[in-house]
Amino acid sequence: MTDLTTDFLGIKSPNPFWLASAPPTDKEYNVRRAFEAGWGGVVWKTLGEDGPPIVNVNGPRYGAVWGADRRLLALNNIELITDRPLETNLEEIARVKADYPDRAVIVSLMVPCTEEAWRAILPRVAETGADGIELNFGCPHGMSERGMGSAVGQVPEYIEMVTRWCKQNYDKPVIVKLTPNITDIRYPARAAHKGGADAVSLINTVSSITSVDLDSFSPEPSIDGKGSHGGMCGPAVKPIALNMVAEIARDPECKGLPISGIGGVTTWRDAAEFMALGAGNVQVCTAAMTYGFKVVQEMISGLGDWMGKKGYASTSEFVGQAVPNVTDWQFLNLNYVTKAKIDQDKCIKCGRCFAACEDTSHQAIWMKPGRVFEVNDSECVACNLCINVCPVEDCITMERMAAGSVDPRTGRTVTDDYANWTTHPNNPGSGCAAE
Ligand SMILES: Cc1cc2nc3c(=O)[nH]c(=O)nc-3n(C[C@H](O)[C@H](O)[C@H](O)COP(=O)(O)O)c2cc1C
Ligand code: SF4
Ligand code: SF4
Repeated sequence: MTDLTTDFLGIKSPNPFWLASAPPTDKEYNVRRAFEAGWGGVVWKTLGEDGPPIVNVNGPRYGAVWGADRRLLALNNIELITDRPLETNLEEIARVKADYPDRAVIVSLMVPCTEEAWRAILPRVAETGADGIELNFGCPHGMSERGMGSAVGQVPEYIEMVTRWCKQNYDKPVIVKLTPNITDIRYPARAAHKGGADAVSLINTVSSITSVDLDSFSPEPSIDGKGSHGGMCGPAVKPIALNMVAEIARDPECKGLPISGIGGVTTWRDAAEFMALGAGNVQVCTAAMTYGFKVVQEMISGLGDWMGKKGYASTSEFVGQAVPNVTDWQFLNLNYVTKAKIDQDKCIKCGRCFAACEDTSHQAIWMKPGRVFEVNDSECVACNLCINVCPVEDCITMERMAAGSVDPRTGRTVTDDYANWTTHPNNPGSGCAAE
């Protein structure tokens, strides 16, 4: 079988699948079982400063978004950091690390934004023998109201400052976990880089209200008739996370900054996508909470099979391979012309493509007698909406027009030459708009 061993910041793990800091990594009992199930590493549930542990709500702490088949698409949580004593967590971390030297054990931390608070906790974490720390600058609820979590992650100067304190007071890798609740992820990533972070991890949860109870008019989860925004995660946030990972991976100012990809990883394929976009490994929370620890086994076998088929001997051979293909809109090839094509043998005549194209796209699908649906190339702009609404996989495909043929919609001859918006005469920025 393919070797999935991963070296992230010099921390070796038997595979790139780490559990993210969250309930699955809250205690020794969980982490031991996770390692037995095959997880390559864990980021321990975030620890706070010494003293009386924080207190969670005693009512429901999750909201959810489901697909039509009741599959969980997103979780929304209002949980805080660990509510167990610091000393108990540290003792458990030390025991687990000693018993599983081949697994990655990272300690997530969130303490008040003073150097004193960080200097107090870092030596105690170092004593556990854990492989590194992750700074939780991401939680968007509860702790942020006390000036921690995303309240730090939203201010690049604070990120840089705290990262520097940690680098000065701790000698193992420091990972900075970023919040997605900002406008441009590159600024916090650059700040972490400047502060000396060994890596960034992202994303933490997305601020959200998932639903409102229409009897009590309370946002859910409802605590005695009131709700607050929570943090959303799971498959629905993956596209946000992929984009943010790619933005950092291709940012010249973040060059060389390793990334741990988080957000909606449910299958090996999700993991491979994050890694292709530059993540050296991935972290998982919702998939483990939905399907249990054994979900990692499908991830391990699936990734191994795929790598074997592709001839990759190690994960480093495909990490970042998609980064050069992420570009700005203005550089997309305007001479790439495709048309939708319906496979009549696969079509079940539901008419969804027709409704979508007729009502909201370009009126490019004919409904002929006998409910035969065909694409009118003279109108098709190749938007691919029909493919996305068609319930039958591969029933509609996009076919590229050959160079030399004439696009019946524009009357222009298709060429192989690359041309983009920066060179097009209609570009408002080119100063020579035509037509
Ligand atoms: C209930 C719950 C509690 C969480 N607690 C923490 C935490 O203490 N520290 C932290 O850094 N992230 C926390 N997270 C965020 C996860 O680590 C992760 O960033 C997020 O869930 C996205 O990954 P996913 O889509 O695989 O769930 C929590 C997530 C959930 C669902
Ligand atoms: S690709 Fe777009 S324009 Fe073409 S047929 Fe499909 S929905 Fe209509
Ligand atoms: S949506 Fe797909 S299956 Fe339905 S009519 Fe169109 S092509 Fe056929």
